[in-house]
Amino acid sequence: MIDRCLPLSYPVHMNETQHFNPARPQENLAIIVAYDRNRLIGKEMHLPWKIPEDLAYFRSKTLGHKILMGKRTYFSLGKPLDQRTNLILSSDEDLFVPGCIMCRSIPEALEHIGDDTCFIIGGAAIFRQFLPLVGKLHITRIEYEFEGDTWFPEYDPGEWNCLYFEQMTTKDGYHISFNEYIRVAR
Ligand SMILES: NC(=O)c1ccc[n+]([C@@H]2O[C@H](COP(=O)([O-])OP(=O)(O)OC[C@H]3O[C@@H](n4cnc5c(N)ncnc54)[C@H](OP(=O)(O)O)[C@@H]3O)[C@@H](O)[C@H]2O)c1
Repeated sequence: MIDRCLPLSYPVHMNETQHFNPARPQENLAIIVAYDRNRLIGKEMHLPWKIPEDLAYFRSKTLGHKILMGKRTYFSLGKPLDQRTNLILSSDEDLFVPGCIMCRSIPEALEHIGDDTCFIIGGAAIFRQFLPLVGKLHITRIEYEFEGDTWFPEYDPGEWNCLYFEQMTTKDGYHISFNEYIRVAR
């Protein structure tokens, strides 16, 4: 099923409802995500797979840019990613992470990002809230069904034009593809 609205079953973050007015999509914002055949992205706070080729792709795309992540994704990484400006979204006013810019709400994050290129790197809560706001998607599709507990939200492929597509087989035998999309102009 294609859903254009947020499914009610998703937990709604307090800041989403209290402070956040949906804005127009911004061309400088891009989601970058890897998911499997079922849009699975996570398992027990980690990636369900180890695919160095995808990590290299992620690094090549994000190096030198701003990256924005949710608190839980930051803790799963354990440290800021090098050679990138790390922004963390968390409503916890007591949380400060050395080397990272703390954003307490989406409007605050958008203010920090300004007109700079920024990759929204997850996790699910962040992807769900930023999907209406980004102008680009970088999706690594892994042609396999993993087990896990966290999924990328459903989205309407009709709202996106493919700019780039590359298929490969990893050294461990996974068939993956790198897909880049731009939002269809309205
Ligand atoms: N496959 C991939 O490409 C990929 C990429 C990234 C992550 N992941 C996976 O995704 C999973 C984590 O995703 P997740 O959804 O559990 O967590 P998450 O999105 O990383 O972080 C959620 C946290 O972000 C904060 N937050 C969310 N919306 C906010 C808002 N509007 N304002 C202020 N703070 C906000 C909240 O922290 P507070 O409670 O402190 O407010 C919330 O608990 C992990 O399994 C990870 O490995 C996969």
